[in-house]
Amino acid sequence: MNTNAALMPLYQSDPELAALITKENERQSSTIDLIASENHVDSAILAAQASLLTDKYAEGYPGRRYYNGCSVVDEVEELVISRAKALFGAEYANVQPHAGSQANFAAYQAFIEPGATVLGMDRSHGGHLTHGASVNFSGKLFHSVSYQVDPDTELIDYDIVRRMAHEHRPALIIAGASSYPRIIDFAIFGEIAREVDAKLMVDMAHIAGLIAGGVHPSPVPHADVITGTTQKTLRGPRGGMILSRDEYGKKIDSAVFPGSQGGPLLHVIAAKGTCFLQAMRPEFRDYAQAIVANARAMAETIAEDGLRVVSGGTDNHLVLVDLSALGITGKDAGMALERAGIVANKNSIPYDTIPPALAGGLRVGTPAITTRGFNVDEARTVAHLVCRVLRNPESEQVRDEVRRTVSELCESHPIPGLL
Ligand SMILES: Cc1ncc(COP(=O)(O)O)c(C=O)c1O
Repeated sequence: MNTNAALMPLYQSDPELAALITKENERQSSTIDLIASENHVDSAILAAQASLLTDKYAEGYPGRRYYNGCSVVDEVEELVISRAKALFGAEYANVQPHAGSQANFAAYQAFIEPGATVLGMDRSHGGHLTHGASVNFSGKLFHSVSYQVDPDTELIDYDIVRRMAHEHRPALIIAGASSYPRIIDFAIFGEIAREVDAKLMVDMAHIAGLIAGGVHPSPVPHADVITGTTQKTLRGPRGGMILSRDEYGKKIDSAVFPGSQGGPLLHVIAAKGTCFLQAMRPEFRDYAQAIVANARAMAETIAEDGLRVVSGGTDNHLVLVDLSALGITGKDAGMALERAGIVANKNSIPYDTIPPALAGGLRVGTPAITTRGFNVDEARTVAHLVCRVLRNPESEQVRDEVRRTVSELCESHPIPGLL
């Protein structure tokens, strides 16, 4: 069983919960994680999150707190802010957002008023819920207009974005996505925003680690505000962050606290700091390059197998597979893969005719397997396994054979947080 020593006190105090965590350790250890928004943190990040910093209330900002006793956490937050700024080359950073969605909420609040027009990417074309979906605050509080990808190339058509921006005159334009496999040209987005006097918000949640690792161009010179998460390609704790220029710092600080959050999670902020430090090390650049190399290898292998890959390939950490030729939905695909020990998620593809709850595509990502040390050959092997399952979703024999190879791969690549 994968019981790490850190769990021993929990076994004494709450064996039922400790057993469930051990079960999750076991699940992660014995399955291949292809969820593009997930990763595996190491035990340093876990140690920071498990610290007594969780005890401290620190509403406010360093030097301006509501409670006493904040001298040490002031130093912690200042250190983490300085690392975030250094890592991304930004003038200003706020490391308090509890998650990516909260970072986005605060960014909206800092820059626009309810009812304002926001131009973001259509959710079924890669955008996130918080980019204007009708079920989310972003679609309820603001007038949301969405751009889609080109139907032939499946790439963002910057001329269409420009045309829509001139037509709708949004107060805020959002660049960034949850399931777009290509480089996003932030410079063009910046030009378009300036032409229509809009602010540009880049949501780098998915690609923060690729930007930090130098394999995706940085939005910093082009955006007014940049939001992100630390748990995806950046390989840190589950949390959010905001970058910007000094001139907007005060507005963003007040939009986070007291505008939309209470006390910061200092233990998570500390873990973000460790994550930023790790991402400044040369080996993180190697990691970011390996993420992309593995994703390219998977895209090529899947295409060689005869399945269509959205936009014909990938430049980043994810691959979107069109399942229409197989006659299965993304939901079916995700369930069949999970039975075989591979965890990936259903995903709409551009111009999908299948509703999002079933979805016509599958999204696979390489941040987590690359953290476990899978090389390009192993990424190809994983892609072969995925294709085999997708072509034989009901076969128990295929499931058992794939499961065996998955177990071998997992055993030779342990999860860093359990070492
Ligand atoms: C582009 C993008 N922005 C924001 C988020 C929200 O992050 P969180 O789940 O931490 O709220 C996500 C999550 O997947 C995302 O993909």
